[in-house]
Amino acid sequence: MNVMDKSIERVMLSEEQIAKRVKEVAAQLDRLYEGRRPLVVCILKGSVVFFADLIRHMTTPLELDFMAVSSYGAGTESTGRLKVTKDLTTDIAGRDVLIVEDIIDSGNTLYNLKKMLISRAPASVNIVTLLDKPERREAPMEPEYTCFVIEDEFVVGYGMDYAEEYRNLPYIGVLKRSVYEK
Ligand code: PRP
Repeated sequence: MNVMDKSIERVMLSEEQIAKRVKEVAAQLDRLYEGRRPLVVCILKGSVVFFADLIRHMTTPLELDFMAVSSYGAGTESTGRLKVTKDLTTDIAGRDVLIVEDIIDSGNTLYNLKKMLISRAPASVNIVTLLDKPERREAPMEPEYTCFVIEDEFVVGYGMDYAEEYRNLPYIGVLKRSVYEK
């Protein structure tokens, strides 16, 4: 047990469980994009590990791009609540865009992001998320592809952090309350 493992209450999803599911979803995405060349977008930073695994399981020729965003409050009327800290470098007009997220919680980030990307006239925008916490939803946002639906617990690892730590944990764990309540 290493220093990070000691802060974990329990393993929610093991490396093996994640790998199996990511492979299945990659196969679904290959079927969806057959004969096309999607632009696969990593939403930094939390998605980076999922993204790296997902694209390596996909066999469709594709292109990559990266974005960093943060969202404020309920995103029901405008895209003004989305802060883009790193934008795409690709012109997405007429492109098939696949957004790769690590987790959907309130749904505000993706609701606003999808709206903003649609305004750039892509051919399509789909969302694939590693985790979905539907209990916490505020915005009307349903991802097209979800690897795992989870309960409302504080999860870290496989890209996800607490205070920028634990992103390099190879599995998804529930953080001990004592870590974030001290
Ligand atoms: C997380 C996640 C989503 C967002 C989801 O990012 O990657 O972008 O929060 O929350 P929401 O559904 O309530 O909007 P975070 O801001 O933690 O940044 P990070 O990926 O860099 O850790």
